[in-house]
Amino acid sequence: MPVNSPAPSPASSSNVEHSSRSTPVLQRNRLTLEYRLPASASNAPNAADGGQDVVFGLTQTPKSLPPKYFYDDRGSQLFEAITTLPEYYLTRTETQILLQDADAIACRVGACDLVELGSGSSTKTRILLDAYARQNTPLRYVPVDVSGGILEDTARRLIQDYGDLSVHGLVSTYEAALADLPATDLPRRLIAFIGSTLGNLSPQHCEQFFQQVSQALQPGDYFLLGVDRHKATARLEAAYNDSQGVTAAFNLNMLHHLNWRFQGDFDPGQFRHVAFYNEGDRQMELYIESLQDQTVTLKALDLTVTFQAGERLLSEISRKFEIAPLTADLLTHGFQMVETFTDDQQDFALCLCQRI
Ligand SMILES: C[S@@+](CC[C@H](N)C(=O)[O-])C[C@H]1O[C@@H](n2cnc3c(N)ncnc32)[C@H](O)[C@@H]1O
Repeated sequence: MPVNSPAPSPASSSNVEHSSRSTPVLQRNRLTLEYRLPASASNAPNAADGGQDVVFGLTQTPKSLPPKYFYDDRGSQLFEAITTLPEYYLTRTETQILLQDADAIACRVGACDLVELGSGSSTKTRILLDAYARQNTPLRYVPVDVSGGILEDTARRLIQDYGDLSVHGLVSTYEAALADLPATDLPRRLIAFIGSTLGNLSPQHCEQFFQQVSQALQPGDYFLLGVDRHKATARLEAAYNDSQGVTAAFNLNMLHHLNWRFQGDFDPGQFRHVAFYNEGDRQMELYIESLQDQTVTLKALDLTVTFQAGERLLSEISRKFEIAPLTADLLTHGFQMVETFTDDQQDFALCLCQRI
């Protein structure tokens, strides 16, 4: 049962402690759940910040919003549905690579604290957990996600399914987690950022992110990145414009989420999903397009915004990578590429890097 707020259920309230950074912590045997929520978001379903980024994005021209606002409970469920769509080759392909190469990754990295940023349902991560279990190599799992419901659910299932596994879940943004990772006794850290989520970061944001990951790791630690590769426009555009309309529902769910979190009055029926490949910038771009002139108010943010008919709000980019420039970029942040694992068609890549 997903729990949306940081408040524990009555049955577990005696297990709630407060850590030194005053974030609520729920501890039970092999499961620890930690909530790094700003006070202003304490009634909210996830750990996004207090909405300053919404005010910033909606008062810029052109308008934009950070993709983390896709992910309330319904957004996470819709993303899970996307991963099974025939057009969405990304998850299928990354799964195939993990099935082929998880043993090699576990063998190379060895005993570790596995921190996964944007862990979602951790479905693919189970392949890596299975490899560790097969090799009888110690591992603690630290999933990090802004979407509290799916993280809690997943953490509870994992400790049921893996008898020896300890899980320390962080309901948090990447930034807040990387700034202060839970202490570990294991010899290495492995930070995983799979699912093509790196593609959601602009080049500038990506540089800051690599810097943070680098600072969070010690020499000898590992970084595992799952990236989608540049390919024919038709395949890319089909993946983000599926015939069942699931991606459209996922995109427009951002408006429902904003309504709920910030007492907004977006009418999602007056907007539509638009997605296309920007070949020059090598990125898919997802927009929410206004169908008419309209005014929207987000009471909790004291914000009123006008949209013109046809005006587009950028809700997500999904960048497509080439391995050589990515390798060079990672090197400037102190990461040596150890091995790039890919599929037969070279559609997707899992890059294992080591902090120098
Ligand atoms: C594209 S999904 C990938 C999920 C999973 N890793 C996979 O490969 O299927 C991105 C995940 O990152 C989470 N997320 C998005 N923005 C985030 C942020 N700024 N901080 C922490 N988590 C975030 C979302 O809730 C979602 O679960």
